[in-house]
Amino acid sequence: MEKKKILLDCDPGHDDAVAIMLAAGAPSLELLGVTVESGNQTLEKTVRNTCRVLQWIGREDVPVYAGCDRPMVRDKLTAGDIHGETGLDGPVFPPLRKQPESEHAVSFLIRTLRAYEGDITVVTTGPMTNLAMALRLAPEIAEKIRRIVLMGGSCTNGNVSPAAEFNILADPEAAHVCFTAGRPLTMVGLDVTRRVLCTPEVVARMAALDTCASRLFVDLMGHFCRTQKAIFGWAGGPLHDPVTIAYLIDPAVLTTRPMNAQIDLSRGPSYGRTNCDAYDYLGLPATADVAVDIDAERFWDLVEEGLARYGKEAQA
Ligand code: BDR
Ligand code: CA
Repeated sequence: MEKKKILLDCDPGHDDAVAIMLAAGAPSLELLGVTVESGNQTLEKTVRNTCRVLQWIGREDVPVYAGCDRPMVRDKLTAGDIHGETGLDGPVFPPLRKQPESEHAVSFLIRTLRAYEGDITVVTTGPMTNLAMALRLAPEIAEKIRRIVLMGGSCTNGNVSPAAEFNILADPEAAHVCFTAGRPLTMVGLDVTRRVLCTPEVVARMAALDTCASRLFVDLMGHFCRTQKAIFGWAGGPLHDPVTIAYLIDPAVLTTRPMNAQIDLSRGPSYGRTNCDAYDYLGLPATADVAVDIDAERFWDLVEEGLARYGKEAQA
């Protein structure tokens, strides 16, 4: 079986960390590198967290690239209320050996997309700053992107404002650049990610695996589920970002519908909203395949299979 080549752009972040573990371990995926920007925490912290996760699971061979330390236009927005002071509060990490590469994430994205024959899927689970900057610097790379799969947006309510979801509101102009790049794009928004809540039963199920990855999952979810409950009242934290990777492993996990989707760039109360024209009021061409339903049972099976693939040790 030919592996799907992916670039993962993220801002760990508890749910990003789980996405990294699934992407790095999936036999059907080839993770070419992980690019990082500021988002859930400052760039320095999100890069450190990415290295921590890869070291923990014994995948120091996966290259990490630090990217943009702020959004393209707006002021920086972080999510310390959910992810804590470090961006990955909860687990106690061993001393860090793994370091990022010296090349900037944006130039790595451009270099890598240029080098391949249009068979790379770019997955973003943070603000879309790095990808947007790459598209602005080297517009010809757009045609080399097989598909953009992003966690972000919502057809209904947001999670940082009534209208907007965090990854989009953290850099709406960047999201606009990516949504208008003319490439196939799958939007995995709150409409589906809020249907996969990591309840205590899920945590117990993953704990029973007792692999290095499942142990990290349990430690991460301890903090994440507590803050999600305190802020939103959920019975468990919505495991947003890993849905993108689960979808690449098994597309049947999501039901998507083509829609015209545009980012609200007005500076009013709807700034950062993903306007998804589900009923085709505007009669405009579809710009995104929007996830409208998720097979939650299949999703948790994929998470379990992913965490089970790792050995007991690593984490040294
Ligand atoms: C998104 O925002 C971040 O806090 C999470 O990591 C996820 O990518 C959910 O809105
Ligand atoms: Ca994220």
